[in-house]
Amino acid sequence: MTLASTTIPVGRPDDPAGGAYDVVIGHGVLDALPGLLGDDVRRVLVVHPRTLRSTAENVRADLAAGGVRPYLCEVPDAEDAKTVEVLASCWSVLGQAGFTRTDAVVGLGGGATTDLAGFCAASWLRGVPVVQVPTTLLGMVDAAVGGKTGINTPEGKNLVGAFHPPRGVICDLTALRTLPHADLVAALAEVVKCGFVADPVILDVVEADPAAAVAWDSDTLRDLVERSVAVKARVVTDDLRESGLREILNYGHTFGHAVEQVERFRRRHGEAVSVGLVYVAELGRLAGVTPAPLAGRHRSVLGELGLPLGYRGDRWPALLQAMRRDKKTRGDVLRFVVLEELARPARLEGPEPGLLEEAYRLVSAD
Ligand SMILES: NC(=O)c1ccc[n+]([C@@H]2O[C@H](COP(=O)([O-])OP(=O)(O)OC[C@H]3O[C@@H](n4cnc5c(N)ncnc54)[C@H](O)[C@@H]3O)[C@@H](O)[C@H]2O)c1
Repeated sequence: MTLASTTIPVGRPDDPAGGAYDVVIGHGVLDALPGLLGDDVRRVLVVHPRTLRSTAENVRADLAAGGVRPYLCEVPDAEDAKTVEVLASCWSVLGQAGFTRTDAVVGLGGGATTDLAGFCAASWLRGVPVVQVPTTLLGMVDAAVGGKTGINTPEGKNLVGAFHPPRGVICDLTALRTLPHADLVAALAEVVKCGFVADPVILDVVEADPAAAVAWDSDTLRDLVERSVAVKARVVTDDLRESGLREILNYGHTFGHAVEQVERFRRRHGEAVSVGLVYVAELGRLAGVTPAPLAGRHRSVLGELGLPLGYRGDRWPALLQAMRRDKKTRGDVLRFVVLEELARPARLEGPEPGLLEEAYRLVSAD
């Protein structure tokens, strides 16, 4: 029998800094919202894109029925929401409605919306509660869990932000029904990443039935979401502010981010991460750290899901430059998370330039 909902705790309830919360996962679990908001909240700003308008209206009705005063703030779609101008428009709504510290923000949408809503909550009155309601697979398994919030500036993505753990996260899998299939598949790259760095059962589940893994209403996908959230919850519980362990979640991202930059963000994040995972597996193998069969498994499991395994072969200088600019680079030394074994991440610092380029040659051969 499948439980109606699964709750995964993040953070330690006894942590004096606070910040412990639950992630509720299931189909039709939006009714968990009042409980996660808490009894003290009087007004709620629901930040959402146009695509989620009807869900936002339902949330508004439910909140009002529960005695909370709801406000809706429709923001531009996707990355267009993550600007200082849109943030300022949310502040205006909060100011005009007289939001105080006992009021809250709800982020309803994909990762772009939850990033904006989270930063809006982090910055209003130096921090009011936020409950995140991610409606994309990427939002559920990555963006909405962990407390990183932020917006973009003309100079780059996510350059302004704050760590602001939510009061709770609701992953209502029913929302995935309307998500474009390509977006769902792309987000599975992050799920597979969790499998390689921390929970190998994820890989077994995908390999056993790849078709079920990409079906929005399957028990398999639900299992994968729960497992991925559990991985992220474990990691961020031990490293809220990204001082060390959290780095493992960046597996495959150094090259992936470089592909995104070179493609001027016209490529889905998950697709770029998929290529980044294959790249770092090859790099780890060439450096003598990652066993060859484990490197090969990256290609097979990502390939089963229909994710890209390679990238065009004429972009090396631009990719190398982008990797050198990566936020995770220290000084001039490129750092990668690589795998010594399945679920045994290690750090590879300053690999030989020849290895970096050889790994690129191997992913551009596809
Ligand atoms: N804070 C973090 O830790 C973190 C981690 C990873 C990614 N991110 C951020 O997340 C963002 C990417 O998230 P994303 O992939 O969810 O993209 P997104 O938020 O841009 O959403 C993608 C598209 O899907 C639409 N959409 C959302 N829910 C839908 C639904 N249920 N049905 C149909 N359409 C729907 C959106 O309107 C949008 O057009 C980036 O801004 C990235 O920087 C943040």
